[in-house]
This record gives sequence, structure tokens and C-alpha cells, in this order.
Amino acid sequence: MVEKPGKPESFEMIAKTFFGLEEVLADELLFLGAQDVELGRRMVSFRGDERLMVRANVYCRTAVRVLKPIATFTAADEQELYQGIGRIDWLKHLEPEATLAIDPVVHSPIFSNSLYSAQLAKDAIVDQIRAATGQRPNVDLADPDLRINLHIDRDRVTVYLDSSGDSLHKRGYRVATGEAPMNEVLAAGILRLSRWDENSPLVDFMCGSGTLVIEAALMARRIAPGLVRQKFGYLRWKGFDRAVHEAVMAEAKKRVLPRVAFAIRGSDLDPRVIAAARENVERAGLSRDVTLAVENFEHAAPPAPAGTIVINPPYDERMKTAQIDAVYRRIGDVLKQRWPGYTAFIFTGNLDAAKHIGLRTSAKTRLFNGPIECRLLKFELVKSESTVVAPPRSDRRDQEQIADFRNRLSRMAKHWHRWARRQGITCYRIYDRDIPDVPLAVDWYDGNLVVSEHDRPHSRTEIEQLAWLEQMVGVIAQTLEVPAASIVLKARTRPVVTGRPKKPEPPRIVEVQEGELRFEVHLDGGKETGLELDQRILRTMVRAEAADKRVLNLFAHCGTLTVAAVAGGASSTLSVEAARGRVDWTRKNFQLNDISSAQHRLLCQDPLLFAHYLDPTSGAQFDLAVVQPPGFDGKRRPEVWNVQDGHVELLNSVLQCMSIGGKLFFITPFRRLTLHAEQIVGATVREITRQTVPPDFRNKKVHRAWILIRTAEESAEEQPSD
Ligand SMILES: C[S@@+](CC[C@H](N)C(=O)[O-])C[C@H]1O[C@@H](n2cnc3c(N)ncnc32)[C@H](O)[C@@H]1O
Repeated sequence: MVEKPGKPESFEMIAKTFFGLEEVLADELLFLGAQDVELGRRMVSFRGDERLMVRANVYCRTAVRVLKPIATFTAADEQELYQGIGRIDWLKHLEPEATLAIDPVVHSPIFSNSLYSAQLAKDAIVDQIRAATGQRPNVDLADPDLRINLHIDRDRVTVYLDSSGDSLHKRGYRVATGEAPMNEVLAAGILRLSRWDENSPLVDFMCGSGTLVIEAALMARRIAPGLVRQKFGYLRWKGFDRAVHEAVMAEAKKRVLPRVAFAIRGSDLDPRVIAAARENVERAGLSRDVTLAVENFEHAAPPAPAGTIVINPPYDERMKTAQIDAVYRRIGDVLKQRWPGYTAFIFTGNLDAAKHIGLRTSAKTRLFNGPIECRLLKFELVKSESTVVAPPRSDRRDQEQIADFRNRLSRMAKHWHRWARRQGITCYRIYDRDIPDVPLAVDWYDGNLVVSEHDRPHSRTEIEQLAWLEQMVGVIAQTLEVPAASIVLKARTRPVVTGRPKKPEPPRIVEVQEGELRFEVHLDGGKETGLELDQRILRTMVRAEAADKRVLNLFAHCGTLTVAAVAGGASSTLSVEAARGRVDWTRKNFQLNDISSAQHRLLCQDPLLFAHYLDPTSGAQFDLAVVQPPGFDGKRRPEVWNVQDGHVELLNSVLQCMSIGGKLFFITPFRRLTLHAEQIVGATVREITRQTVPPDFRNKKVHRAWILIRTAEESAEEQPSD
């Protein structure tokens, strides 16, 4: 074993980095005066003294950590590993009451379990110190006094002291994160790879939490990253001379320039990430150097005739391929039309989408963002004689779309308001995806609005889609003259959550009237509001059939169909629903309609189980039934009951307990259902979808419904549908 002598003048060190950044890190180290600089895989080895080690930590923007080797030896097995670690004089590095952590990096068939190797090394250290002093150091993985790096390559073991402590990407300015914030070391590496001169305009028009613009401003003002961070592993090393650190920090402070004399500009469409970026910029002390704005990249204007653009567009897996391709195509168009004279760098992990940028790349660098293989693509945006900065193409299209939507909405609202007044209805649909490019449903609940987004291909990023939806909500509020606070938006696109999650808002509950019936509606309650508008006609049908009937409502949801049956004079009702919340909701609807009789029972039970245990031998129990099971077809979750495979058994179970001539309404949102009428026993079957979808639903495919009439015979008869 070779143990390096204590405190040598010059020693070997390793600076770790990310794949692809080795050369820029080597340049940084050479600049600091490192000797014997050699590139490795995701690391650079070099030689220098303690001052250089401190400088590397304080100045290097592209190093993740700086390691100082203290011993190398070979180990053929675990025992030799334990013995080798035990031969190092640990009291030179650790007080007995200090804390330690071991980071293992193991590439070895002998030591296949890296955590076990770390454990063994820790035991060797602790055992040695306990034997010598009677006291033992403790492990503290989060904030140890000494972080040790154990590197095993086959049988070759190298033990390093980690002079950085925490990873150097933790600069100390990040207080808030946006979606997929870029690692600070990677951001600095990208800027170095771009060869930006640190003295000319720099723009990131998809800046998220601002990492690229902050790193750029730190470079431009010559602020060493260590000046913001201030915490380093070596500061807690035994016997470390603090004066060296203080001298390096003083020197670093002197180099700082007072301010940036050119534009460093970050913008993003998402106001939440810009708020996060603003906090980060402030913490980094760069408020006067970086300008931030909430802006669509299509509207961002060049701050000067020439400069550098560095962006990291979304390469989201959640986005559909056509959508993300279109986003990259738009980035290419915008760069060509609005940024001539600039050099643009696009860092992306979506190599397929990047092909749609449609501009010639002048350089490509392979990098990784965590496990994702990425490219940094360079584009020279040539300024031709005739180039004029074009306004964003989408503006006119957007304006036309808004005007069309406003006109259509206004016409439809007038029409349906008038119609509803005649019908005595206060809840109805006033816009149903009438314009294909505005795929919204706008439902009127007695002066409140629920706006739901439907899926349709578009070329917007997630945040653009949210901004577009908010804009549409604004148009709806204006056109229908309702306060924006009375509109609930049910978006498929989920907003990005930044910072601490907010306390959930209390549900927005209103009472509404349908004819003389009253219902409690939860405007923002998940997918359902509690009053399915598409079932309005069905409610009338059930009511018309219910007089003196014993009614079963299976999968009763919030009990609106039961309320309709009671209003129609049902002699008794039984509502079966599995969800306790919905049963309580039904109870509220009962109260609103003065239903209190013991004849109207609510049963909180799995409706499938209920149907399974229905006993045909106890005779006819129901004269009217409504069965509305959940709609999924079971392809994705075969273990869960699904309406396609399960409807025959379910309907037969209910039918066998119904009186002859009794009617069963079967309704499902699963529109592709193939109803196996031939397997239904003792009933005629007729599809009534066309009669049950209300006229205010332009989309007639909102549900499907059948009526099954119990016959005396034990065989099914199919009637012509609709
Ligand atoms: C991968 S993130 C950028 C992360 C950023 N580099 C950081 O360090 O936090 C992509 C960003 O693009 C933004 N974005 C998406 N569409 C946009 C648009 N049309 N205009 C401006 N920004 C947009 C998103 O809001 C998101 O913050």
C-alpha cells in the first residue's frame, strides 16, 4: 500500500464533471495554474497544491467535485478491502467525535454491491478509531464533517477525501425550482461550449427557473461560483489552514466586475417559473444584470442586432409526438424570422423533435442531462440584406380564432338561454366543441360556468396550452358577461407545481334548479359536477315511468336519477353506490327535495357485489331500474371489472329480480360498447341513445343508453334500435 505523505507541496487531484464537459473543465483548471492536466471519462486529473485545490473549488464552474487521493492499494476480496482501509491513519483526518460519509464508486466484479463495500470501509475506519481512542465517529450522510470517496476499479482501490463536500452544482442561489431545472454545472458547461464571449447579449427565451441566464451573468461579472456558495468540504478538514481559503476568497472578490453592460435576458411563458427565476437571480445578487419577463418566445424581441441565444426547450415525454415536433418547427421558424445575426444554441434531449427545427446545424455536441442523452445544437442565423424582423406569424391566427370563438359563443349562448327559459332549465351546455380548433365544452350552471378541455392535436407546449386556456376563459367571461371567478376550468393539461404545494381550495358548491327539482353541484369536483347534463332527458324518462314503482338505482352516483324517480311518485327507491362521499351527496340532494321517507334507502356498497347477491328466488323486487356502471373498457387494466366484458352478467342479475313488464334503463359513457342483446335473458332490448342525448349536446356521442323490458319468456328479443 502507498499512503501519500501528509500535506505535500503538490499532489494529484481529480475533478469530476459531466460527460462532454471534460475539455472545458480542463481549460478552467489550466487557467487556474493546474499541472499535469489529463482528461478522463467524466473527470479531469491534475496536480497542484492546497491553494490550487481551494481555487478549483471556488472558481471552477464545470466541476461537480474535487477529490484528493490519500491512498491506493489492491484488494482481492472483502477482507483485503477492510484491511487496506484500516492501514490508513484515520486519526490524521478525523476527530473521534466527528461525522463521516462514504460515497462508493465501484466498477468491479469482486465488489458487486457498492453499498456493502462502503459499509465495510466505514467499519474499518470506525473500528480503527475506536480501538485507538475508545470513541467512534458517526455516519451522517447529509452533512458530514468528512466526505470520503471510495473508488474501486476491479481490484484497485483508491480512497479520496472529497474537498468539495456537497456537489459543486449547489451554488447556493437556487431557492425555487421550475419544471426540470437544469443542473448549474451543466448550464455553465453549455455556456462554455457555446464559446460565448461573456461580453455580448445573451438570451434564453425559455428560461424556466433561469439557470442559464444566472450562470451567464455570474460569468460576465466574473463572480466565482464559490463566492455565492461559501460552503466547502475542506473547511471542516482536520488541520486545514483556513487562511488559504480566506486568501482565495479575497482574491475572487477583487475580480468581480460591478455590473454587466449588455443585455442578459431570460423569458418564459410561465409566470410561476419566472417568479422562481426572479428569486434565484436575487439570491445570486444579479438583479441589476439579468432582466426577466413573462413572454411567449414567439414575441421575444432581440435586444441588440447580434448576440447569443441559448435555450433548453421542453422535451417532454408527456407531449404527443406531433405536438412536440410542431413546437420545434416553430422554434426554427422564429429563429429564422426574428433573430438574424444571432448564434443560437439549442440543448435538447428529444433528438427526433430537433430534426423539425429545419435549420442547418453548424455544430453538435453530445451531452447528458442525468440519464437522458442530449445534444447541444448550434445554428448560425444569417442576416441577409432583405431580412426584416417579422411579427410572429401566429398573432393573426390567434386573433381570428378568438373572434370566431367569441361570435359562435355569443350566438349559441343567446340561443340556448332562450331555449332553456322555455324549458324551465337552469343548467345546460352552451358550447360543445363547435369550432374544432377550440375544443372546449362550456356548461352553464345557473350563472356559473364549467369549462372543460377536450383532447385534440395542437402545436402548443404544455405551458402555451395553459396560457391559451386562460385566454379562452377570459373571452368566455367577457362574452357571457360573467365574472371570471364564476368560471371553473377543467383542464386536461395540469399546471406545473413549483415550490410548496398550496392548500387545497374549498370546493365550490352551488344549488341549482332543474324544473322543480333541486340539486347540489360541485363546480370544481374532479370530473363530475354531481349533475350530469347529458342525463337530463333520462331523468325526465325515469320520472315519467316511476309512479308507484319500486325503483333500483344501481351505481347511483349523486342520486339525481333517484330524486327524479321520487318526484315521479316511486313507491320506494334503493340507491346503491360504493363511494361514501357520493352517498352523502345523494343525502343532500334528498334534503334539498324534501325526501325523508324510510321508503327511499341509500346503500353504500359495491354495486357489482350487490347485483351478484341479488336473489331471484325471493321474487320480483323492482319494477324500474337504472344501471349506469363506470365506462372503461378494461383494455388497460384487465384486472378491473369492465363494462364490455361484464355488462351481460350485470344486466341479467338485475333483470331476474324485476317484475314482468318492468323497465331497466342502461346507460354508459363507454361509447364503443357492443351490447350482447342475444345473451340477455328474459327481456327486450332497444337502444335509445338518440332520444336520451339532449339537444344542447352538439356531440351526440356523449353516452349510449338502452331500455330493457322484462318479458315473461326466458329469452332475449332485440328490438330495432332508436
Ligand atoms: C426544460 S424547461 C427549461 C428549464 C430551464 N433551463 C431551467 O433551468 O429551469 C422549458 C421551459 O420552456 C417554457 N416554455 C414552453 N413553451 C414556451 C413558450 N411558448 N414561450 C416561452 N417559454 C415556453 C416552459 O415554461 C419551461 O419553463
